[in-house]
Amino acid sequence: QSQVTEVKTKPVPTLPDAAKVLEVTHWDDRLFSFKVERPQTLRFRSGEFVMIGLMGDVNPTTGKQKPLLRAYSIASPSWEEHLEFYSIKVQDGPLTSRLQHIGVGDEIILRPKPVGTLVVDALLPGKRLWMFATGTGIAPFASLMREPEVFEKFDEVILMHTCRQVSELEYGRQLVEFIKSDEMLSEIEQGKLRYYPTTTREEFHHMGRVTDNLSSGKVFEDLGIAPINPETDRGMVCGNLAFNKDIMVILDGFGLREGANSEPKEYVVEKAFVD
Ligand code: A2P
Repeated sequence: QSQVTEVKTKPVPTLPDAAKVLEVTHWDDRLFSFKVERPQTLRFRSGEFVMIGLMGDVNPTTGKQKPLLRAYSIASPSWEEHLEFYSIKVQDGPLTSRLQHIGVGDEIILRPKPVGTLVVDALLPGKRLWMFATGTGIAPFASLMREPEVFEKFDEVILMHTCRQVSELEYGRQLVEFIKSDEMLSEIEQGKLRYYPTTTREEFHHMGRVTDNLSSGKVFEDLGIAPINPETDRGMVCGNLAFNKDIMVILDGFGLREGANSEPKEYVVEKAFVD
């Protein structure tokens, strides 16, 4: 006689480059952010991204599992002990349909090879730094807004963030508020950060696309500042593909040129992660 006993043991973590989840915040039904343990050897520059993800489903023919990875900007600054990420939830998205259900103590895969162009080193010195973001494209700026080097190198830092709805602005709004009220972060920021959020599909005190507010000059009027000038202004762009293209045309029109790590110029661009 044989007796079948089911022994339920906790699976041993077998993920390559595993990073443990420390905290998860759901902002609305479409957005969440989370913090993970930072691998001790991971160095990065504020504004860079890494590949993160989960193990994919077992392939029925090979019986093997492959990691499902996407590029995510690190939303925390380079000096922070943990790593923070900000993500959309796409209900049928291969990764985010599952990633949105992670909880404290779970593990994600984190490939420790940070790269990216939204870094201070890829810009020529200037006086004003513009951060242009739509949706989750604010993530690299969440990192840069807490980076001392940004405020040492620029006199003014202007964050323009456009979302469809007010609730989508909340992550950025709370972060800016925290930076300005926190003793250590406000010392880094030195009162230089200006925040210009807008919505496009819900009533808000400032409305309109970043692109339209730049082209019309509304943002310069609202902030009481001179228009963008290639001598003084530098830009960083992170949004969806169409947004990036449109804003590049506008920045080119102001006489700014796209730069890269190897060739710093007046602005840099990165595509926001979309599942
Ligand atoms: P809009 O509502 O007018 O499309 P999405 O969720 O589609 O990625 O868009 C996020 C935000 O970016 C929305 O407010 C959207 O405005 C805006 N947006 C989308 N495409 C562009 C673009 N090409 N130029 C400027 N803003 C854009």
